[in-house]
Amino acid sequence: MPEICHPSFLLPSPLVPVDLSEKAGAAIRLFVKRDDMIHPWLSGNKYRKLKYNIEHAKKIGATTLVTFGGSFSNHLYAVAGASAMYGFDSIGLVRGEPDDKNPTLRFCRERGMELYFLSREEYRLKEGSPFVRDLLSNIDGSLLLPEGGTNADALPGCREIIEEVQEQLGYSPDYLVLSAGTGGTAAGLLTYPHLKSRIIVLPALRSGHLGDEISALTGGQNTHLLTVCNDYHFGGYAKYDRLLMDFIKDFNKLTGIDLDHVYTAKAMFGLLDLAGKGFFDPGSTVVFIHTGGLQGLAGLEYMLQKKKG
Ligand SMILES: Cc1ncc(COP(=O)(O)O)c(C=O)c1O
Repeated sequence: MPEICHPSFLLPSPLVPVDLSEKAGAAIRLFVKRDDMIHPWLSGNKYRKLKYNIEHAKKIGATTLVTFGGSFSNHLYAVAGASAMYGFDSIGLVRGEPDDKNPTLRFCRERGMELYFLSREEYRLKEGSPFVRDLLSNIDGSLLLPEGGTNADALPGCREIIEEVQEQLGYSPDYLVLSAGTGGTAAGLLTYPHLKSRIIVLPALRSGHLGDEISALTGGQNTHLLTVCNDYHFGGYAKYDRLLMDFIKDFNKLTGIDLDHVYTAKAMFGLLDLAGKGFFDPGSTVVFIHTGGLQGLAGLEYMLQKKKG
């Protein structure tokens, strides 16, 4: 879409081969789709999910993007970045307390996002909260985007990953592997009309129903190609341990690629573990979609420093 194709975007995002056959203990051809490289402000699945939401916002003449997120949210960061790039005002409704030094919130503020802090109870109510209702009723031309950015307009942008990968490889990969929270990115992939690849989803949080939620988003399209592996959440959302942090370091040493501790490291760890267990057919082509989230590493560093005092 020309209007939202900013000249500084790295698109199509690179598809890079990674030789980890020794580590994976299996003869697979592994590639990483580097959506994390699209743009420092708007990258990974946030670029994919926001692309058509921004187009929609322009079409309806919205002037302010409003959204929700936690205080280290990749989505909040991306909406602030996109708003600055495309000339929208933006409002972030944040779960938790104000913190001037938090790098995610600082970035948002520097991009012009107005931040409001909600208690957990209020936050849970989302647009049903009296505070949010009142705020929205006083803004002309606002477009409300859901937490995490998953809605119907998010899916077509995610689907385009497959077009890019097929063009770059010259064939359909056997497997596309990715992290998940709401499952919106995976749902977008599944709506690709002539999908030939299996979609392997590794949730970053404890979730017993993600498969059903993804199917609800796609209207049941291509469900037979979807596998959800729930074994790699490392205790739950934003939880991590020494094993995961060492993995991030090792992986970077071997490949030069950074992974974030909330989403992509868990998914890549899972991919390699599954490969070692013979999950993927020998000789198959496996594409890992790097969904971004690297801004969160600054947040992690900040929290670690804060704990140290
Ligand atoms: C870096 C990263 N990867 C993966 C996900 C999960 O994406 P989805 O909610 O579409 O499953 C998110 C959250 O949106 C994210 O920020």
